[in-house]
Order: sequence, then structure tokens, then C-alpha cells
Amino acid sequence: MRIVDIIIKKRDGGVLSEEEIRFFIEGYVKGEITDYQASALAMTIFFQGMNKKEIAILTDAMEHSGEVMDLSSIKGIKVDKHSTGGVGDKTSLVLGPMVAACGAKVAKMSGRGLGHTGGTLDKLESIPGLTIAVSDHDFIDQVNDIGIAIVGQTAELVPADKKMYALRDVTGTVESVPLIASSVMSKKLASGSDTILLDVTFGEGAFMKNIDAARELAKVMVEIGKSLNRNTKAVLSDMNEPLGFAVGNALEVKEAIDALHGRGPKDLMELCYTCGAIMLEQAQIVKTKEEGKKMLEEAIQSGRAFDKFVAMVKAQKGDVSYILDPSKFPVSKHVVDIVSDQGGYIYSINALEIGEGSMKLGAGRATMKDTIDMSAGIVLSKKVGDFVKKGEKLCTIYTNKEDFDLVLQEIKSAFKISDKVVKTHPVVWEIVE
Ligand code: URA
Repeated sequence: MRIVDIIIKKRDGGVLSEEEIRFFIEGYVKGEITDYQASALAMTIFFQGMNKKEIAILTDAMEHSGEVMDLSSIKGIKVDKHSTGGVGDKTSLVLGPMVAACGAKVAKMSGRGLGHTGGTLDKLESIPGLTIAVSDHDFIDQVNDIGIAIVGQTAELVPADKKMYALRDVTGTVESVPLIASSVMSKKLASGSDTILLDVTFGEGAFMKNIDAARELAKVMVEIGKSLNRNTKAVLSDMNEPLGFAVGNALEVKEAIDALHGRGPKDLMELCYTCGAIMLEQAQIVKTKEEGKKMLEEAIQSGRAFDKFVAMVKAQKGDVSYILDPSKFPVSKHVVDIVSDQGGYIYSINALEIGEGSMKLGAGRATMKDTIDMSAGIVLSKKVGDFVKKGEKLCTIYTNKEDFDLVLQEIKSAFKISDKVVKTHPVVWEIVE
């Protein structure tokens, strides 16, 4: 078998056989297939697509390209949630402790941010001392002891995705249903939890630019999960504007702490309650989403969700004093307000532009080798639908960089203002079950 024949077959619209897909993944992981051949194949898949059977085989081949976690020694139903990426998306930091406080076992392996999107691991690492490098044994013990662990994937887990994702990121082949579905599902299946909830984002700040594309991706992933006997569901959530107010690592952790104290932004809390209620149903802790929502509200009001977060930070060696007193987090050297030149209703805050702006202020990585400035980012003062007066604050930027005037202009242009009242939508548009 030759990789060039597989590339040509897909280029000409053919359907790849199981042997051909496995030959590609095995050869690529072993280094026998080159990056330029893999990127040519990724581009042909981007344009020609794959049928459901091909996607299922690709997912399986990727899942088994490395270690597969066995979580059977964790007592109870293990739940997991994964977002296809967004801006200001600190959901896992709030939702994880909320569902754990209701008795679900949260065994979560997260990723890092790349480009304009943020990653849960980077946000967690803004807590001094906290480690995301936890051995399999300690991961299992932690979930058994306190009900929650959010850690990094080990290098051995789905090595095929590590290579493929890095390649796709620099070859314009990220936004493809077969490639995203196999990337997400191979990791979720290999990390071993019993149930999977996918938050499939759509809009300016997401990989899927509209709800139809997000629905197609969600259906493919839910079908793969179900065919392998994992209780898999998805929500389709709006990522046209950033989620909540804070964008940037420590800034988002502070907002997550506020949310766990019952002072969370409306859109973030809506997403957390909707996802949390589904996860409690999946864990068979409640029979209906309404019952789940009540239980989650109680977990916030009683302080038990916040206590779970504290317990997790402590178990992962983080300095809990920052969680108890978030004013201890270091503040950037430059803190600058951006004000509006006109009065009116905000009709869009482009999440992609805010995400890129935040990255340029130091909060994100353009390449995997870049280091992150944990204190950098943006805090919005307004959300879509709000009224703003001329001269009133739109947002505040935080940076340690000296040369940020141009970025400031770019961030300002992410806000679009209209004379007319703007209709707002809920964050979650649909549930795919
Ligand atoms: N998230 C992933 O894990 N993989 C993708 O391909 C896109 C988003």
C-alpha cells in the first residue's frame, strides 16, 4: 500500500477502506508517513469529506494510536464534557465543581488553547502551584476521593491527534467535520469516561461558523459515541460574542470563582445549568433536567460547588489562598479602558476579534512553543443588547506588553453599535440527543 495512492483516491472523491485509513494513522504516528503527505491527505478530506463509516474508522484508529485509559476502578458513573472551542469559555471550571457537588464523578482530561481560543489547562495553571500533570493512578484516586479532577492528557493518549492537530492548525485544515469529529471523539473515547457531553459552538469565535454546520458535526459525534455504547449528547451553543465578561487566563479564573459564589454572568450560568442538568441525567443522579437544574442551583447557593473547586485546587497542589482571596492574582502592568465613540445598542462583539486581541495582549499562543502571560486579557463591560453612552467604557485591557496601541484599535473595532434596540438570544440553541 502506498500513501500517495490513498491521497489520490480521496482527492478524486473515493471512499477509503478500513485498511487504508489504519495504514495512514499507523504510518503517520510511526513517522513513516511524512508531514507533507499527511497534510495533503487532510486537505483532500477537507474538500471531499468522509462518509460516516470512514469517520468511525478514523476515530477508532486514532483512539487506539496510543494508551487507552481504564477508569473502571472509579466508583460510579464517570461524566465528561468537551467544548469544540471558544473565547472566554471558562465553563469547565464552573460546571465541573457544580456537577461534582451533586455527586457526579468528573474525570476530565482537558487541552490547551491555541490561536484565538482558550484552553482549560492554561486557565488552571494561572493558579500558582497547581499541577495538571497528574499520574493515571493519582487521577483515579483524586476522582474517587473528591469526585473531580481536571488534568492534562498524557503524551501517550491519542498521539495521532497530537500530530494531526498541530499539522491541521498550520495547513488550514481545522474546520472540517470528519477531522474535528475524529479528533474530539478519539480523545473522549480514549480518556475512558462513561458519558460524554459535547458543547458544539458556532459563530464568529467558533470553528463552525453557523448552526447548520454545528448541528452536522454534533450529530456525527453523537452517533460515533452511541455506536460505541457511550451515553453521548451535545448542545449547540452560540459563540458569536465571548462567553461571560472575562477573556484571558487568570481573569477567567476570577470570573469562574465569582460564578461559583453565585455571581456568574447570565450567559455563562445558562450554559452551566443546561449542560449540568444533562450531565446529572447522564449520571443517573436525576430523572429530569428540571430536577437537575434545581439540584445545581442548590449546589451554588449552599457553597458546595465552590468548596468542590477549592478541594480540586488543593488536591492538585494549587495555592488555595488565591481562590479564597482572588485579589491576590497579579495584575498586569498596563490596565487601560476602551470607551465608546458613540451612544447606542451593542449589536455585536466579535468573539474572534476579541480572542485574537487577547492573544496579542499576551494571553494566548500563536504557536505551541509560545509562553502565556497569565494576567493578560480583556474584561468586557458590556454584552450584546446593552446600551452604551458616548464616552462610556466598552471594556478594559490588561497587558504587560509595551506596544499595544494597534491591538487596542482592533479590540475597539470588535464592538458594533446600532441606533435600534437589539434582540438577544439564549446561548444554548439546541440539544442533540
Ligand atoms: N477541538 C479538538 O479537540 N479538535 C478539533 O479538531 C477541533 C476542536
